Amino acid sequence: MDFFHTHVSLRAIELATETLKSTFLSEGKRVKEFEAALTKQLGVRNPVALNSGTSALHLALVLAGVGPGDEVILPAQTYVATGLAVLMQRATPVFADIDPETGNILPSSIAEKITPRTKAIMPVHWGGYPCNMDEINAIAAEHGLAVIEDAAHALGATYKGKPIGAISRFTAFSFQAIKHLTTGDGGALCCLEENDAGQARARRWFGIDRVRSEPCILGERVYDISDIGYKYHMNDLAAAVGLGNLEDFPQRLERRRQIGVRYRERLVDVPGLQLLRLDSDRTHAYWLFTVLVERREDFIRKLASHGIPTSVVHLRIDHNSVFGGLRNDLPGQAAFNESQVSMPIHETLGIAEIESVVGAIRAGW
Ligand SMILES: Cc1ncc(COP(=O)(O)O)c(C=O)c1O
Repeated sequence: MDFFHTHVSLRAIELATETLKSTFLSEGKRVKEFEAALTKQLGVRNPVALNSGTSALHLALVLAGVGPGDEVILPAQTYVATGLAVLMQRATPVFADIDPETGNILPSSIAEKITPRTKAIMPVHWGGYPCNMDEINAIAAEHGLAVIEDAAHALGATYKGKPIGAISRFTAFSFQAIKHLTTGDGGALCCLEENDAGQARARRWFGIDRVRSEPCILGERVYDISDIGYKYHMNDLAAAVGLGNLEDFPQRLERRRQIGVRYRERLVDVPGLQLLRLDSDRTHAYWLFTVLVERREDFIRKLASHGIPTSVVHLRIDHNSVFGGLRNDLPGQAAFNESQVSMPIHETLGIAEIESVVGAIRAGW
């Protein structure tokens, strides 16, 4: 049994082959088609396709005007990419506490961490379960802060009937190899405002506005770069893989949800195991199925002895010296970090495999 499954559909192989044969591999029509398909199929707003989720987070911080000396509030329960993107702008990551029942940032803790230097809030939808976005956006509006959702785990999730990717000023997705929609490596920055999307399109390609700059007789476009740009664009080969993989994404997401429901039904009464909270106003993308367990290492060893892989995926990031070392003012984070662990959840797992996981857990550890 695999912990992660990298899905490459037949359609993705066909489209990638076509693209390779065309020899047009840079950013072109496939990128446009992939962006249009993301909007049409998932209802996300103005997706700008990029070469990684980290690029999406960084670009959002740039467009939000975050710079040296500014503070950005984020949870420590994430991957290092979220915090490193803040450091790339020479800004300071400020870690807020999380709700130990979900792994998501606590709006009350965000409010406590705001100072006159705060510029942005980066909530992370742990495992694909949406954060309390109404509360977070209300705090941001009150203090004039940008919200940049790190939705690396949350493609396909919804909050109060809206897709993640259509709620806050910025949302960053990742299409890295082990994500539930992959382009090999890739990402997208969704923007509520057209102006941000236009800026993101220019800045993903060195800051050159390709819509408004025509090639001249000399063979180069006529342009003037006014702000620093990056080489962050997605290429057509990656976009072809993404387009092909998007076709059966709804069915694969549905399968993950069915497995999630089954795990919850079968594990609800297991002593020493606590399911995460699931509110009825949002839907989970189930990139991960995280639970809280007592004696975590025994749990991991017991499942491994049955050939079942488990993983914490990411431990809290603040312990890294680049972020200044472990904070001791985050009690929810400390509790979650001690007992969280995730189980296999992907579309290739059949009922028999799910039952073997459940059976091994129910037998105790
Ligand atoms: C929470 C989170 N944010 C950001 C990223 C970065 O995404 P990418 O690997 O596409 O740069 C990841 C990647 O795994 C992640 O888990």
